[in-house]
Amino acid sequence: MNQDQLKQAVARAAVDYIQPKLESDSIVGVGTGSTANYFIDYLAEYKGHFDGAVASSEASAERLRQHGIPVYDLNAVDHIGVYVDGADEANPQLHLIKGGGAALTREKIVAAVADEFICIADESKWVETLGNFPLPVEVIPMARSHVARELVKLGGDPVYRQGVVTDNGNAILDVHNLRIHDPEATEMAINQIVGVVTNGLFAQRAADVLLLGRASGVDTLH
Ligand code: A5P
Repeated sequence: MNQDQLKQAVARAAVDYIQPKLESDSIVGVGTGSTANYFIDYLAEYKGHFDGAVASSEASAERLRQHGIPVYDLNAVDHIGVYVDGADEANPQLHLIKGGGAALTREKIVAAVADEFICIADESKWVETLGNFPLPVEVIPMARSHVARELVKLGGDPVYRQGVVTDNGNAILDVHNLRIHDPEATEMAINQIVGVVTNGLFAQRAADVLLLGRASGVDTLH
């Protein structure tokens, strides 16, 4: 199977995993990216078996609406049972790097609200130590240079993601050359820098379940 087929397999596995939990009033948290897009397409087969969705990006909201799935503002929702999203890297503790699609802040918010965070990823995302994938950091635009200098002090090499404006109107710095041995500490340290909205480490709120697509099949990791 190629990478795209592995993404389809984990997206299908995620729908199979959540389908027994869906009730007529369920709101499904939906992430962002190509794997999440497959999930949205398969979730649409169950339209009418749940109430609607909260999306972590405008792009995913649009895709959900195209399928006729109602999309709710998070402030109008009091409970999300499951949140399903991809990742850029995942380690054996189910800590993640996310934000390759620049949606990290909304992803982190929806993940924080959801009872259960189900990550879906092909095996190319599986690592022992996080940090090969440059860590995305969302920053308030006027603080971009300040935050970049502070990230250098932490040992990283931040690169401004040219031309990208997040759904929240902010900029992204991608931090290269970080070997992240203590994801929770790094997540907290970066979030302490004034001007940072959040960073793409999901360690304080790791995934609860990782559906990992391998050539041999989909592994379910807890
Ligand atoms: C979006 O901001 C990211 O967190 C995505 O979850 C991540 O980039 C995974 O994308 P793919 O599913 O396209 O690999």
